[in-house]
Amino acid sequence: MSDPLGSLSRTHTCGALRLSDVGSHVVLLGWIHRVRDLGGLLFLDVRDRHGLTQVMVPNDSPLMAEAKKLRSEYVVAVLGPVRRRDVDTVNAKLDTGEVEVVAQEIRLLNEAKTPAFSITDDSPVSEDVRLRYRYLDLRRPRLQNNLGLRHRVTMAIRKYFDANGFWEIETPILGKSTPEGARDYLVPSRVHPGQFFALPQSPQLFKQILMIAGTDRYFQIVKCFRDEDLRADRQPEFTQVDVEISFAHVDLVFGLIEPLIVEVFKEIGVHVPTPFRRMPYGEAIAKYGSDKPDLRVALEIADVSLVWTDAAFNAFRTIVADGGVVRALVIPGAARYSRSELDALVDQAKQLGAVGIMWARKVDGAINTNVKAAGEGTLLASMAAAGCGDQDLILLAGGKADDASRLLGAFRLSLAKKENLIPADRFEFAWIVDFPMFDWDAQDKRWVAMHHPFTAPLDEDRAMLDGDPSKARAKAYDLVLNGSEIGGGSIRIHDSAMQSRIFQLLNISDEDARLRFGFFVDALQYGTPPHGGIALGLDRMVAILAGENSIREVIAFPKTAAAVDLMTGAPSPVDQKQLDELKLRLAAPKPPQ
Ligand code: AMO
Repeated sequence: MSDPLGSLSRTHTCGALRLSDVGSHVVLLGWIHRVRDLGGLLFLDVRDRHGLTQVMVPNDSPLMAEAKKLRSEYVVAVLGPVRRRDVDTVNAKLDTGEVEVVAQEIRLLNEAKTPAFSITDDSPVSEDVRLRYRYLDLRRPRLQNNLGLRHRVTMAIRKYFDANGFWEIETPILGKSTPEGARDYLVPSRVHPGQFFALPQSPQLFKQILMIAGTDRYFQIVKCFRDEDLRADRQPEFTQVDVEISFAHVDLVFGLIEPLIVEVFKEIGVHVPTPFRRMPYGEAIAKYGSDKPDLRVALEIADVSLVWTDAAFNAFRTIVADGGVVRALVIPGAARYSRSELDALVDQAKQLGAVGIMWARKVDGAINTNVKAAGEGTLLASMAAAGCGDQDLILLAGGKADDASRLLGAFRLSLAKKENLIPADRFEFAWIVDFPMFDWDAQDKRWVAMHHPFTAPLDEDRAMLDGDPSKARAKAYDLVLNGSEIGGGSIRIHDSAMQSRIFQLLNISDEDARLRFGFFVDALQYGTPPHGGIALGLDRMVAILAGENSIREVIAFPKTAAAVDLMTGAPSPVDQKQLDELKLRLAAPKPPQ
């Protein structure tokens, strides 16, 4: 059978035709979106990536019998003249809504099975079914727009870096396992049985070595792989906009990344004012209870410890006397909450690992609270100190400073959502700076790098490394947007003595450092320029630009929350032959329970 497309080319996309095209003969190529049989007349909506065009088959048309056999998602070529629609049939919602094509020839290019769901944005369908039939899902306008936006964003990024003297350089996907943080995905080597490559968690060491190699400014839009627990904003493979700059200091990095963000946001027509605010990590935790504060929400956590120093209420007085804090969050207008809503807050606090949460409000001039023993005077004083008015609700948390703030930080977000206090269409950026160098890993009883082991300490905190490492701050920064961490980076250690010192502090022995990072430690000794950089999470950034809650909506072929690809069925077992070639033997499966 000859190919019905033959040498036919499209003259217009399905989103292109306007009144000015009336009279021209066109060729449209696309999918049947919908067939409407109005008795005499037959209307076909023909769809492609660009839009939808109405095609009319007149009642006396010799095409009618064949046209009636067309079904949704059949692939067709439609040939015919464009004509103006009658005024009462104009569709203002469609760009092509003032015209239609009168079918003179319809070629069926391919049939389609009935799709598992209709190709419209509002068809109710579970995410599993969508992912199983991703090729159908991706035909929907919302996902087409998301892919288009992602394309435009990556093009804007490449253009920006090129104009600023950066080279895009590829780094290996088959790398060396140097686990720190997340787990590696491992790839067995056939030619070296028993040995493994690791897929990169990030190109961190390669990009630093590129600076040592004199490439000066590097970027790469690069896949990274992390075998970690997944959430809406995490995928096992995701894309970073990875950047490294020689002779960099913090201001230089920010001064190059902020204009990049400005360019990217132009793609959705949003002007982003710069410079972004900078907030020390300590302030972010204290005021917002998070190192990625959503600054669209105006609520701030207040410290009311002073009110409780002489209070009769034992629990909070003792906490403050022992160096703890009492912190408060005021929810405007929430004095109206029902008793069950308030009980739910206490339950929520327990679920978050706290013993509970104290709330208080004024009802008819008197204090109403879940902890009467707290005392009316102290509660009134706390309300006054935190700016809590008669219509408002105050939440009070006592404990270690970070714990109290993090607890209130969780309420800040959940109650802002409940009270509709998160303005849509606002983009609030901040650089979170001055992170601690180290986190104490209570389980392994050792310091771990809060960012990564290649991050330089603040100059003024170098002495702390020998005194109290918990107080040493790093030249590390995160870029936060609307409560999401869209990037992270640091100024790196460029002197090998300092690098060894940090490995020591992290309890990485010389031998271990040599085994894992020997190539890098060697390279550091051959004239390393001061350098620094950042990696932006492309998926997260595009999800925010597209107004999506999950990064799966902006990734063509994402994995599920259980890290599987429902379309291809990966991961999957492999042939015994493949295992034999790799000299791998699987542990015997556990006998059924
Ligand atoms: P970091 O680990 O902070 O830094 O990663 C940088 C950014 O990548 C995004 N991101 C993710 N996105 C989706 N799924 C994931 N599993 C995931 N993990 C991280 C986040 C994050 O801010 N090498 C350093 C960067 C540097 O120091 O230059 C690094 O990888 O948006």
